[in-house]
Amino acid sequence: MTEIYILEIDMNSIVGLSEVLTKYISNESRNRILSYMIPQKSYQTLITEILIRYIIMKKNIQQNNEIRICRNEYGKPYLETEKNFHFNCSHSENWIVCAVSTGAVGIDIEAIKYIDLNVGKRFFSESEYAYINNAPPNLKLNYFYDLWTLKEAYIKKIGKGLNMRLKDFSICFDKNKIYVESAKYPENCYFYKYDIIKNFKMSLCTSIYQTKCPIIFIRQEHLINDFIDLINTKEHNLSSLTEL
Ligand SMILES: CC(C)(COP(=O)(O)OP(=O)(O)OC[C@H]1O[C@@H](n2cnc3c(N)ncnc32)[C@H](O)[C@@H]1OP(=O)(O)O)[C@@H](O)C(=O)NCCC(=O)NCCS
Repeated sequence: MTEIYILEIDMNSIVGLSEVLTKYISNESRNRILSYMIPQKSYQTLITEILIRYIIMKKNIQQNNEIRICRNEYGKPYLETEKNFHFNCSHSENWIVCAVSTGAVGIDIEAIKYIDLNVGKRFFSESEYAYINNAPPNLKLNYFYDLWTLKEAYIKKIGKGLNMRLKDFSICFDKNKIYVESAKYPENCYFYKYDIIKNFKMSLCTSIYQTKCPIIFIRQEHLINDFIDLINTKEHNLSSLTEL
């Protein structure tokens, strides 16, 4: 089972709340947030971590103070103690997406911006580059970002980041089916691509087949209120137990 959570950062209200919220995240994330020179990057990291912690608590997997987010040698975050809980996040501008699944998962979101399509030669395989070149002119940029996010979702599912050569595999389209051709990484993969946010592309790659993945839009205000409520409720329940 795979679900996608989507949230748009509200820059106006997050500024005043960030000091309170950093109390609830790991030291590692707190230090990263402090090290960023660009405020948007800090808020992306902060809200992404609050979102994943919220989902873990909401699903009754762990309480906030029990959550230890580890990273593999290539930087992919995971929960060490929960082998059946997989997640992956992506951010672009003010949008944050997070996929959670019972199997390995990767997700990517990108803002569609004008780009010289020739840069695709650097990271698309021959067949992928041909796919873009052969597209009708008004769709080339669309196809470019479809491929980009599908490739990213795939490498993020595998978890090796840019330690994989982007030309060592090809994303292919056959009618409605999307699949990967790769001699080097013979993985079980299912792909999904989405155009649900205007001017953004999003793609998902999972090891588990599902006809459709539920998509949950969360408002930042609700996330923060529910997150703090969940922490307070769990702490209250614990202290009532110790009083017994
Ligand atoms: C780091 C990378 C995994 C994703 O980078 P990105 O697209 O810039 O960033 P996204 O917002 O999609 O994802 C970042 C999140 O992915 C996760 N992540 C980090 N390393 C990861 C890895 N090895 N595998 C999976 N997920 C990873 C983290 O949660 C990270 O969030 P954080 O920075 O708040 O910790 C890597 O694939 C990369 O550098 N990609 C850009 C390469 C490129 O030029 N692609 C061309 C088109 S194919």
